[in-house]
Amino acid sequence: MAFPNLVLLFKLFSFLLLFRSTQSKLSADYYNKTCPKFQNIMQTILAEKQLSAPTTAAATLRVFFHDCFVNGCDSSMLIASNGFNKSERDANVNLSVAGDAFDLITRVKTALELECPGVVSCSDILAVSARDLVVMVGGPFYEVLLGRKDSRESNPSIVDKNLPKALTPMNELLSLFSSKGFSAEEMVALVGAHTIGFSHCKEFANRIFNFSKTSEFDPAYNPVFAQGLRKLCANYTKSPAMSAFNDVYTPGKFDNMYYKNLQKGLGLLSSDQAMVTDNRTKPFVDRFAANETAFFDMFARSMEKLSVYKVKENNDGDVRRRCDQFNTLQV
Ligand code: HEM
Repeated sequence: MAFPNLVLLFKLFSFLLLFRSTQSKLSADYYNKTCPKFQNIMQTILAEKQLSAPTTAAATLRVFFHDCFVNGCDSSMLIASNGFNKSERDANVNLSVAGDAFDLITRVKTALELECPGVVSCSDILAVSARDLVVMVGGPFYEVLLGRKDSRESNPSIVDKNLPKALTPMNELLSLFSSKGFSAEEMVALVGAHTIGFSHCKEFANRIFNFSKTSEFDPAYNPVFAQGLRKLCANYTKSPAMSAFNDVYTPGKFDNMYYKNLQKGLGLLSSDQAMVTDNRTKPFVDRFAANETAFFDMFARSMEKLSVYKVKENNDGDVRRRCDQFNTLQV
């Protein structure tokens, strides 16, 4: 009888070992001893930057999402291209990212390097910045565990297949998010980030100009909204910076208005509007539109999950001295 017990014990032991090795070592108090002023320094700089440039919150949240979805939250998105290497930041879909996010990270990193050199990773700075800025514009608080390491590569050729676009069909959106462990409900909650920020006209031009043989604009739009967008974007090919708020009613406030807008034909992008027409996502849009607390809870949980997606720990990465450059020159 002793033999089967031994086998059982061995299996249990292997399971525990496996569990331990896959468990994250991230922790909330990671910098308590090595950089105790970390949170204070961050908050001061974040508040200053957001107050002087209110577009910072949305820009940073988008950068964080684009960083995490492409091979994990490792700040590979912060690397600047040089004469020899193009980085993720310069992949097509990232060219429209507002510069305020990068400026913010540079300011925070500079201050932290002066206080505790070589200690705080750019990936942690980006994760905490996204969370604190969401809170500053009215959104929910969630826990961000710390201890991420920064990537040693930034590869623009893998960006496209890992990020959703305005014209990505719902089947593909669902399978992209699902391939990274996010359910339809979590996807709908995360896209609620479009309650702040803006989109360039080219991202929705197909919906407002020459939409079909029978309609100039997408009939899914509220017609008054569509006419307003047509006016706003009339010269967008000559002035490519022209943009519209993602949430037409409360563009700078993190709330559940985005979902209420979708129900009224005020969703800006095709991918936004699809959330309320597809049966797999509509129930969540309706729930979040009716109940802001339900949205905040699910957004917070999904962001916590996103923040630890494929993070690098220990020797898998570095603490970069500058967030826009690798520690070792790559030629
Ligand atoms: C269905 C998935 C998604 C699609 C197709 C999508 C697409 C887009 C597009 C096309 C823009 C406009 C970019 C521009 O013109 O500059 C945009 C903006 C934005 N996206 Fe998304 N996105 C998605 C999900 C998300 C998620 C999950 C987040 C964050 C958690 C996010 C955060 C943002 C923010 C904050 C902006 C505004 C950026 C700014 O004002 O600087 N998006 N998105």
